[in-house]
Amino acid sequence: MLNSGLMYKELIQKAEEASHKAYCKYSRFAVGTALLTDSGEIYTGCNIENSSYPVGICAERVAFGKAISEGHKKFRAIAVCGFFLGELDPVFCPPCGMCRQFMSEFCEDDFEVILSDKMKGIRYYKLGTLVPVRFDFQI
Ligand code: THU
Repeated sequence: MLNSGLMYKELIQKAEEASHKAYCKYSRFAVGTALLTDSGEIYTGCNIENSSYPVGICAERVAFGKAISEGHKKFRAIAVCGFFLGELDPVFCPPCGMCRQFMSEFCEDDFEVILSDKMKGIRYYKLGTLVPVRFDFQI
């Protein structure tokens, strides 16, 4: 667990704010993320779609890309919020399989994934639960 509930709240709030930047004209589903580095910085991300659909990128990998390109390699937690455009309340948005594999390259099993939505409230998952066996040809 992160050592303060305030940190969870800050991450969720930043993820919600980031979702407003989403470029999601095709799915009309906006995702925002807030990634906490080991050293306490927060990097946000949003999904960025493309008319050639598979070219789009998820909000999780945008946040990781921003942080890694600034020199960060260790992470503690990520908050993820998804919204159908035009609706106010976040919906449950667990990271897709591609993002789970991406995260598992850089994060330990105790990395926390924080999800927030109106129906389920705030849910916390350890990455080790979401990815019990990851692909790694170096094992
Ligand atoms: N999306 C994310 O940004 N993160 C996820 O974990 C799941 C899906 C985006 C991709 C696409 O732009 C939209 O949500 C609908 O799939």
